[in-house]
Amino acid sequence: MTVSKWIKTAFVAAGLGAMVIATVAAGSETRGKYFFKKNCKTCHVAGKAGGVVTPLTKTQAQWKQYFQDGKHNKGTEQLSKILTPDQIQDVLAFVVAHASDSPQPETCGG
Ligand code: HEC
Repeated sequence: MTVSKWIKTAFVAAGLGAMVIATVAAGSETRGKYFFKKNCKTCHVAGKAGGVVTPLTKTQAQWKQYFQDGKHNKGTEQLSKILTPDQIQDVLAFVVAHASDSPQPETCGG
């Protein structure tokens, strides 16, 4: 490989890497909705152990703080026990986008 070709390849690779990191850091609202339904609603509907929890349960700032603390179930366990790091970013993106003070408050289909 010539030097200029190598440099070009390195730049493309770095660019892709940056894109991937940006995507992961931002999280996906769509995937977050899926994971919320799949991994949170099992316990967070009326009559279940956790009681009703929807994106509307908290404000955007409260959700960000909650996920930053990373504690769940009255602080007794880590959120990372329920979700992978990627899923945490996705669920965070979803609940923040539809929090009680968001432009699009949403209950996640009841
Ligand atoms: C295995 C059952 C279970 C699952 C799964 C679960 N929770 Fe919980 N959650 C609980 C219980 C139990 C509580 C404590 C309820 C109470 O305060 O009486 C709780 C409490 C909460 C609270 C209130 C604050 C706190 O931490 O006590 C929030 C917010 C919450 N859960 C969010 C979530 C999210 C988001 C998910 C999915 C990533 C999730 N939960 C998945 C059982 C669960």
